[in-house]
Amino acid sequence: MTSSRFTRRRLVSAIAGAGAALPFLGRVAFARQAAARAPNRPLIVTSKTFAQVREKITGAGMAALQNGGSALDAAEKAVNVSESDPLDTTVGYGGDPNEEGFLQLDASIMSGRDGCASGAVAALENIRTPVSVARLVMERTDHSMLVGKGALKFARMHGFKEEDLLTDQARDHWREWKENLNPRDYYFGPKDRPGARPAPRTPGDLEDLRRRFEDLDSITLLVLDGHGDIAGATSTVGHHFKIVGRVGDSPIIGAGLYVDNAVGAAGATGHGDEIIRHCASFHVVEKMRDGLSPQQACEFVCRRAIERHDGRPMFNFKLVALDRHGDYGCCSVRGRVDAATKALTGQGFFVHDAAGARLEEGRGLLPPLTDEELAALPWR
Ligand code: GLY
Repeated sequence: MTSSRFTRRRLVSAIAGAGAALPFLGRVAFARQAAARAPNRPLIVTSKTFAQVREKITGAGMAALQNGGSALDAAEKAVNVSESDPLDTTVGYGGDPNEEGFLQLDASIMSGRDGCASGAVAALENIRTPVSVARLVMERTDHSMLVGKGALKFARMHGFKEEDLLTDQARDHWREWKENLNPRDYYFGPKDRPGARPAPRTPGDLEDLRRRFEDLDSITLLVLDGHGDIAGATSTVGHHFKIVGRVGDSPIIGAGLYVDNAVGAAGATGHGDEIIRHCASFHVVEKMRDGLSPQQACEFVCRRAIERHDGRPMFNFKLVALDRHGDYGCCSVRGRVDAATKALTGQGFFVHDAAGARLEEGRGLLPPLTDEELAALPWR
């Protein structure tokens, strides 16, 4: 089942790629095909590929569904696993801090029913599971987003305990970055550490820039439950060492997440500032509403981002999507290059359905930035 579904999805995607020439015929054919087959549900699709946590995350979501929980319960419980795992350095507890060494977390949750209700928190400090606070914003207020001190106050009002989210490992990582920030600043590393104060654009700088560019691992997770309800959730520390107060795409409904039971859901990860500018998740869902498959819709929005940057986007993001029939897809602006074959491959995404939990490969439209391009970016 897995491979035949995957092959069919790829085939549809390939047809769609050629498909600018035959858009109408391709879309009608796909819509008929999707409606004719039995829905693939329950289904969980996530951007998160980190091997240490991905199965635990989708497993928690599936367990919530098996215990009678809703799509919304499954999305929250699954994302809580990512938030609570100290090895997962892009989300929640154990994540990398901002430039001043403390964590400010962003999260959102959205239900495809009840008029597509949503809740979000941004720049939330000291709370391990921001997505659960986001759910309370949705269910226990008439608002859709709380930020900073207000979000923390609200979390405490609902009994969330404050804790220091910075692990020793994350603190070491941050301090090393701070000590190497700028040859004209006032920080020094230990005398016995070679390269403690390198000039900018060292291999270490490049490694950090590449990580910033390639970090596609904050979590966006989409659930289609057995009743046909759809929900999604996101959570992130944002960019590591970001400016204090910076808010990314994850808590912005329509950017990092969008869900509509009538169509499907989409979520994003990667360079949040560009994801916001492209209203990426909303756009994917609207393209599915027009008749594109999840794969086609993700590719359309990535292509649009590339076009808007004259074919040379200096960023990366990855989109995942599922529709109400249980078809799904993934595309990133930039993919990977296979070390052995030098072929362009897509970024991974993780899928869990009746056929089991597995890593699949999305489509990547452009190769990664070269070291020279990275070094030329206006990043310090
Ligand atoms: N996509 C996560 C962020 O940019 O905050």
